[in-house]
Amino acid sequence: MADQLHDAVMKALSTVIEPELHRDIVTLNMVRDLSVADGVARFTIVLTTPACPLKDVIFKTAEQAVLNVPGVTKIEVKWDSSVPADRRIHGRMSLPIRNIIAVGSGKGGVGKTSISVNLAVSLAKEGARVGLMDADILTPNVPIMLGLTHGRPMVKDGKIMPFEVYGIKAISMGFMIDPDKAMVWRGPMLNSAIRQFFNDVDWDRDIDYMIVDLPPGTGDAPLSLAQAVPLSGAIIVSQPQDVAIGDALRSISMFEQLSVPILGIVENMAGDLFGSGGGERLANEKNVPFLGRIPLDVEIRKGGDMGRPVVISQPESATAQAFRRFARDVAARVSVLQLTSSDVIPLNVIG
Ligand SMILES: Nc1ncnc2c1ncn2[C@@H]1O[C@H](COP(=O)(O)OP(=O)(O)O)[C@@H](O)[C@H]1O
Ligand SMILES: [Mg+2]
Repeated sequence: MADQLHDAVMKALSTVIEPELHRDIVTLNMVRDLSVADGVARFTIVLTTPACPLKDVIFKTAEQAVLNVPGVTKIEVKWDSSVPADRRIHGRMSLPIRNIIAVGSGKGGVGKTSISVNLAVSLAKEGARVGLMDADILTPNVPIMLGLTHGRPMVKDGKIMPFEVYGIKAISMGFMIDPDKAMVWRGPMLNSAIRQFFNDVDWDRDIDYMIVDLPPGTGDAPLSLAQAVPLSGAIIVSQPQDVAIGDALRSISMFEQLSVPILGIVENMAGDLFGSGGGERLANEKNVPFLGRIPLDVEIRKGGDMGRPVVISQPESATAQAFRRFARDVAARVSVLQLTSSDVIPLNVIG
């Protein structure tokens, strides 16, 4: 009798479709530890990211389905998550990193570093394990925006320890060198610096998302990065004005040439001054996802200058909420990318 109820609930759950993966949650192996007692069905749902934008939808659909089973009057769901890993990174390179996401743009000053920092911190606030790598070797701005302008990273057992701040782990050339000394780096040095960031830094636990803040343009850095490690995807930062579109286009085609999937375009500094819509139009035109807009907000700049990201200093502001939506969208798209690029279901294979 109890077994029949168990099976009936499982059958009901197998009608619940994960809205983005387009398969049911039982086939996707997302349902765990199901038990039914005294009319209460208890189970765990393992999401593909702690930053899942679809949690509520999945809960409601599951509740509806299960309450249709005679004998069940209530569901109790526990949530867990296991971020699918890019097999090329985890397997072939054996780095403790599940996904590497590059943040790029055609030109400087569009807000790559601000977006990278607030994205990383937003993902960490959702419960993900996040690394932030400053690949802008010549003018590293990540340290300022994280308030880490003093001190050098420790070296332990021959490995460089990343800084831990606001729930993320970060590494930057700005931690290593005197910011007043102008740096003259040539291509090969850039290359080895980026490789060192992956291989010689102690990313001791499994990083779900490694966010890489790129310098502007389509020069050596993205190329070095793409040669050093497999990139799971790229985010293009654009501004609302149409004049910015040409730069974004160059950035998109560069990543396409490097065979890096475009996760989408985010429009930064949207608002009265610059208008809005350019990024979305471009996304439609290029048939890539639009990841939303981040408003023009002086608090972003203040937060950057003070080393306290706006998603920390003003977590309930409209701007922080825009970052949260953006971060969830990015996380969901990474999951879709990983789970649709392979027929095997990687949930928990390395967990
Ligand atoms: N949405 C925004 N609203 C207001 N100021 C912003 C916004 N995004 C970035 N900024 C500011 O614009 C400047 C350039 O941003 P930054 O993130 O350094 O750009 P990039 O890394 O692309 O060169 C910084 O002073 C930053 O604080
Ligand atoms: Mg920058």
